[in-house]
Amino acid sequence: MSHIAANIPEYTQVPRHVAVIMDGNGRWAKKRLMPRMVGHKRGLDVLEDMVRVCSEAGVSYLTVFAFSTENWRRPAEEVSFLMGLFLVALQKKVIEMNKNGVRLRVIGDRSRFSPEIQQSIVDAEQLTAHNTGITLTIAADYGGRWDIVQAANALIAEGKTEINEADISQKLMLADAPEPDLFIRTGGETRISNFMLWQMAYAEFYFTDVLWPDFDAAEMHKAFASFQQRERRFGRTSEQLPAEQQRA
Ligand code: IPE
Ligand code: IPE
Ligand code: MG
Repeated sequence: MSHIAANIPEYTQVPRHVAVIMDGNGRWAKKRLMPRMVGHKRGLDVLEDMVRVCSEAGVSYLTVFAFSTENWRRPAEEVSFLMGLFLVALQKKVIEMNKNGVRLRVIGDRSRFSPEIQQSIVDAEQLTAHNTGITLTIAADYGGRWDIVQAANALIAEGKTEINEADISQKLMLADAPEPDLFIRTGGETRISNFMLWQMAYAEFYFTDVLWPDFDAAEMHKAFASFQQRERRFGRTSEQLPAEQQRA
């Protein structure tokens, strides 16, 4: 029983961990008759703003989906532009973030990135490793299924023949972070697109039609407000919750 409880998140007023699928860059640009790349570029600026907004609101972990394992299927030109933007984030944007105490991490299968990107990831993580502010995790060449499989493989490598939920949880890429309390997807689609499948078990979902390049502090605070209206029961009845957590 205690083991089960340990794997169910606790209620907090402000989400400790916010996970975001930053979607809609391409459509934002298309609406303005501009190349998709313009939307991606602006999307990176919005991300910078949102790190600050989340940090100021008291969020401890912000995890964003930047590039999925499936996104390699996009036209080569777009993939290569996104790789270039990733480098800008890792080499340039990280400098300001470091000043602001942000701890940067990257999760995903790094092996398919260029040596330059791989090195920049290591450098950016090292530069910010001891910061004590918000942890920004960029999921790149990441897939939720991939994460579960790599966790299982790590357990096999240790010689485990039988595993439990805690074993898997401890081998996931974000094992040291609390599970996301709030999951936001911009851009109007209401799907999870292979993001953090395992850790999303008890996340509150928030979908908005706002395209990521239009997302701003006010929109983020709408998501927080929605989160605060949710009654997170984690399997219990409403009456079992402390009065301040009941929403009925
Ligand atoms: C999200 O925006 C960014 C990435 C997937 C890299 P999209 O590029 O998916 O934008 P839409 O969904 O086509 O508008
Ligand atoms: C999900 O967005 C991944 C990222 C935002 C990086 P997509 O735009 O790739 O997802 P689908 O294809 O609409 O499911
Ligand atoms: Mg999309």
